Amino acid sequence: MLPLTDSHGRTKRKLRISLTDRCNFRCTYCMPEHPDWLPRASLLTRDEVLRLAGLFVAHGIEQIRLTGGEPLLRRDLTECVRGLDGLRERGLRRVSMTTNASRIAPRAVELVEAGVDDFNVSLDAVDADLFRRMTLREIAPVLDGIEALAAAGARVKLNAVVVRGDNDGEIVRLLEWAMERHLPLRFIEYMPLDAPGHWRRDAVVSEADMIAAIEKRGHVVERQPRGADPATPWRIDGHYELGIISTVSNPFCSTCDRLRLTATGELFTCLFSPVGMPLGKRMRDGADDEALSALVRKAVWLKDAGYAARPGPVARATTMHTMGG
Ligand code: 5AD
Ligand code: SF4
Repeated sequence: MLPLTDSHGRTKRKLRISLTDRCNFRCTYCMPEHPDWLPRASLLTRDEVLRLAGLFVAHGIEQIRLTGGEPLLRRDLTECVRGLDGLRERGLRRVSMTTNASRIAPRAVELVEAGVDDFNVSLDAVDADLFRRMTLREIAPVLDGIEALAAAGARVKLNAVVVRGDNDGEIVRLLEWAMERHLPLRFIEYMPLDAPGHWRRDAVVSEADMIAAIEKRGHVVERQPRGADPATPWRIDGHYELGIISTVSNPFCSTCDRLRLTATGELFTCLFSPVGMPLGKRMRDGADDEALSALVRKAVWLKDAGYAARPGPVARATTMHTMGG
């Protein structure tokens, strides 16, 4: 089958699947403190998730990332991973997971064995009070989770969203913490995808500001050429690579190769799309694979140019926790 290409010439190779919108954390940059969860019956079942995943793999998707909310809140998570693992023979090359890691410690070995190749763990601060202020939860289980993943031999990457007035003073400490542990770290500019009315432009710490803060504390910083990854690589002190995702100050939309499926099966071709294509609903209405494929092709073809073309908050109810990051 032909790969999925949009009208701007971008081919899609990566799909993020949100397995649930529920999360045991309340990161303030991601969701309202009292979210309205999606009705349980509307969430895709495992069979539905795997059917759509298979369809996307048949269309050339090579990497699938499981997200949430928090994927560990999905009871059949391990079975979902095993099901995806079975798609490797049809062209899937990588299965990843984004998690807050707070519940992963006892499950790390099981998930690695089931087929997760790598994990992105959200860690916005190493200071316990600051962590609590940003996530409204405790840091200890997260640190245990990171340790357990490393012990299980998993590849782990840390993600930190930087919000001015919250953790902008923590940038260097986080960087040094990650450097000491030889853990890859990426700073992410705060995007307007949280509770309506919450995001403010002046709360965004730009890539340039982050680099200035790191240099000010005596680190040698060298910009590296950007690859396919949305993060710009920066070499720190000649030996450590830090990534910065600068969606707001320097959007990378022109090379975007990803798609997003919400927990109810809505296909979002861009984080900032105002509406999604209701694949889940169409599937439940009886659409066959051919009809679903046609819908996917259409949605992908019509994919917007991206954030650069229409910056600022999006008028829609879907916040980051339903979108899966
Ligand atoms: N801006 C940038 N990144 C965000 N995430 C959640 N909300 C935002 C936001 N407003 C990212 C976090 C988390 C992942 C699930 O989504 O990095 O790790
Ligand atoms: Fe949960 Fe992740 Fe959103 Fe935090 S960023 S509330 S851990 S989904």
